[in-house]
Amino acid sequence: MTARGMFLTFEGIDGSGKSTQARLLAKHLRREGRDVVLTREPGGSDGAEEIRNLVLQGDPDRWSAETEILLFTAARRDHLERTIEPALAEGKVVICDRFADSTRMYQGLSRGDLRGLVDQLHNLMIRREPDLTLLIDMDPEIGLSRAKGRQGEEERFEDFGIDLQQKMRAGFLALANEFADRFRVVDGNRDMDSVAQDVTDIVMKSLR
Ligand code: ADP
Ligand code: TYD
Repeated sequence: MTARGMFLTFEGIDGSGKSTQARLLAKHLRREGRDVVLTREPGGSDGAEEIRNLVLQGDPDRWSAETEILLFTAARRDHLERTIEPALAEGKVVICDRFADSTRMYQGLSRGDLRGLVDQLHNLMIRREPDLTLLIDMDPEIGLSRAKGRQGEEERFEDFGIDLQQKMRAGFLALANEFADRFRVVDGNRDMDSVAQDVTDIVMKSLR
């Protein structure tokens, strides 16, 4: 746990319900009187939102995997400097929809074996890890159909299909074992309220 504030992240495959759960958790904590900053990656600061448009729109082959690692890490650095660190220093609870674990998975695993490169750049430029990471684990078939139900231009990674999502699911579960001290796995194959109840229980225990 950080000396002041608390840094919580949500991770999981596309359509697993991260944004929904992040929003519900923020609402719950605000009702409890906590000062909450709800944010997301890629994005969460003006500069990082601009980079988001570069990485999530257009031709899937627009960037090499290596360039993508640099872009996601650049966005994260800006987000950290301008949004996350200042909020934590003021004692706020920061809830972030995706963070460095997503780069470990999407750039480090899905596009070849680049985890070493992801880790090196993370150690150089980011270093911070969340106090608590909630992995919303779910069946990729359900996740993909939920994600496809949404409208929008940001389809790049969702378009990779079911095989990649299976690989990502397994990868996230392995990551939860690797960082067992900060990861908690939540079963996302249930209605929103049941998932939210588990999330709230885990977070309230951590905050106490
Ligand atoms: P993510 O941020 O992980 O991509 P979202 O929170 O955007 O996922 O959810 C994807 C879609 O599935 C949204 O339309 C959302 O309303 C819906 N959804 C989220 N959680 C559940 C759930 N537990 N049961 C059914 N539908 C859900
Ligand atoms: P997000 O908006 O969270 O998508 P979803 O709601 O579908 O989960 O994230 C957009 C995409 O960006 C998602 O497919 C995962 C990808 N991504 C990376 O490839 N690397 C990263 O470091 C991050 C943060 C996201």
